[in-house]
Amino acid sequence: MKTKAAVLWGLNEKWQVEEVELDPPQHGEVLVKLTASGLCHSDEHLVTGDIPIPYPVVGGHEGAGVIAGVGPGVSDVDEGDPVVLSFLPACGRCSYCARGMTNLCDLGAAVVLGPQLDGTCRFHARGEDAGQMCLLGTFSEYTVVPAASVVKVDPGTALDKAALVGCGVTTGFGSAVRTAEVCAGDTVVVVGIGGIGANALQGARIAGARYIVAVDPVAHKLEKAREFGATHGASSIDEAWDIVSTLTRGQLADACVLTTDVAEGDHIGPALGLVGKRGRVVVTAIGHPEESTMTGSLFEMTLYEKQIRGSLFGSSNARHDIPRLLELYNEGLLKLDELVTREYRLEDINQGYQDMRDGQNIRGIIRY
Ligand SMILES: NC(=O)c1ccc[n+]([C@@H]2O[C@H](COP(=O)([O-])OP(=O)(O)OC[C@H]3O[C@@H](n4cnc5c(N)ncnc54)[C@H](O)[C@@H]3O)[C@@H](O)[C@H]2O)c1
Ligand SMILES: [Zn+2]
Ligand SMILES: [Zn+2]
Repeated sequence: MKTKAAVLWGLNEKWQVEEVELDPPQHGEVLVKLTASGLCHSDEHLVTGDIPIPYPVVGGHEGAGVIAGVGPGVSDVDEGDPVVLSFLPACGRCSYCARGMTNLCDLGAAVVLGPQLDGTCRFHARGEDAGQMCLLGTFSEYTVVPAASVVKVDPGTALDKAALVGCGVTTGFGSAVRTAEVCAGDTVVVVGIGGIGANALQGARIAGARYIVAVDPVAHKLEKAREFGATHGASSIDEAWDIVSTLTRGQLADACVLTTDVAEGDHIGPALGLVGKRGRVVVTAIGHPEESTMTGSLFEMTLYEKQIRGSLFGSSNARHDIPRLLELYNEGLLKLDELVTREYRLEDINQGYQDMRDGQNIRGIIRY
């Protein structure tokens, strides 16, 4: 079939919205008609090279829609089912899935390779095979994805909002709740208030944190941060240190979650300086694959038992956490509507990413 998709043809190029060919779902795959897709910063990494991926590639990994067809061997979803696409597939059988760590599923190794799990491509643009970001490619009206990448949700789910739960909401929430293990009464700092950071604030709030300090150089992000649970705002980590030190009478924060646009080795030392004894620094932002230098006090790490933890998808479990977060939304505990700053047509995707770079959006979404 033919569909319209945003394709990236090379480093530092613009997204090209064009008609492409899409193959039918193969064994273990499903065809999805998308309702909406979020504009996450991780697709910007495909443009800048911070996430290397072969071109051409259909972008997008934060989406929701309705099953429009199933390939052979698919039994858990059917045509018409509403689904959230998870940017990490979960096979349910590998050692990591078996232990409940589905975010680390062995199938995840394929998410930035381009082709589908069998090594062939479903999308073809201008006669060339095109890969799919995270096996998904949600910047397209229709896509074909592994059944392992879809999570069935309740009929009547607001799929435009649910799209954000496929990456940003779950990643941010989980970074605070699961990876950082925020507890009632904790002091938490979230550095970088975009789609991920806003949800780390919500996670910290729902987990019962007492002081939640948002850090972002963009003033209106700090205003927005209050809506999601921040009790204080700072324009830099240094400024946050003064606030946290006063609030906690020198004990410092229990956790610091790094959700800046790009992870920088230089942020680790100051983040470690913000947390107190047994404090956790969580690295959720993605850094360049060749960035391998971090700084920080080894002395304090040992004597204060400080920890640095990486966080993929907020250490979450898609099949458990995606429906659970949607329930929290339905019960009025989790904000999704407020995350969407602006909606775009697929044709305006480059404007959407420019607005993200200019610091205007908590999250932009494409509505199909
Ligand atoms: N680990 C995962 O599973 C996972 C999943 C999704 C996204 N990510 C990554 O998370 C990061 C954030 O994504 P996003 O979509 O929220 O991005 P975004 O661009 O919407 O937000 C980033 C924010 O960081 C702020 N910022 C930049 N430099 C800063 C600094 N020095 N101090 C404080 N704030 C600063 C920006 O002003 C912006 O508000 C990206 O690196 C993205 O690739 C990781
Ligand atoms: Zn994402
Ligand atoms: Zn697995």
